[in-house]
Amino acid sequence: MLFVIDRLLYAHKSSATEGYEEKPDLTNNRIVLRVLSQPDTTPFFDIHTRLVAWNDAKTTPIPADTPSSFAQRIVSVFEMIWTIRSASDPGRIIGECALHRWNKETREMEFNAALLPEYRRRGFMTPVFSLIIPFVKKNYGVTALKCTTPAANVKAIRLTEKMGFKVAGKTNSSMIWIKPL
Ligand SMILES: CC(C)(COP(=O)(O)OP(=O)(O)OC[C@H]1O[C@@H](n2cnc3c(N)ncnc32)[C@H](O)[C@@H]1OP(=O)(O)O)[C@@H](O)C(=O)NCCC(=O)NCCS
Repeated sequence: MLFVIDRLLYAHKSSATEGYEEKPDLTNNRIVLRVLSQPDTTPFFDIHTRLVAWNDAKTTPIPADTPSSFAQRIVSVFEMIWTIRSASDPGRIIGECALHRWNKETREMEFNAALLPEYRRRGFMTPVFSLIIPFVKKNYGVTALKCTTPAANVKAIRLTEKMGFKVAGKTNSSMIWIKPL
């Protein structure tokens, strides 16, 4: 099963630029982003089971899911998925983040992320953006990063504003944000 998930992830290399890093774990002094692989499928599944309100139609677990089947489905529709860990405790998964909706023509890509509730408001997500932005510029040639937040999610809205995103569109229930890179 490890093979299936890892093969799906690395198959996405074909849509990235030349020189794509083979196993793009990303680190700084605060955060470790580790590419999702088979040993992490159970905590990854737990995150999505706990954060029910954050999931959308693509990321909501269904009753028949096992951690492996769920991870395979998510990996098949996302460009890249990382687990988030604190650099001071890299064995513990505290959240996840992902890239998706890569548009080769417009060179835009969408990013989303979530932390388990007990790790929020501790300054973890800001350094995640500091890792993701150079990664998408270097490996995909992304010229604009997008995020979608629920219209009522004040924390996410404040975060995207703080990260320099501007509103690009709105529906009744969500806001679309864009940041030229
Ligand atoms: C939104 C979320 C990712 C923020 O992560 P975080 O690590 O708690 O954020 P940080 O501690 O790095 O704070 C960064 C900024 O986010 C905003 N923010 C974070 N939590 C906030 C809160 N409870 N109230 C208001 N603003 C908040 C602030 O602008 C903050 O900057 P500041 O500390 O200078 O005020 C986190 O609350 C979360 O995982 N929520 C559930 C999933 C989600 O909504 N994801 C976003 C949509 S994709």
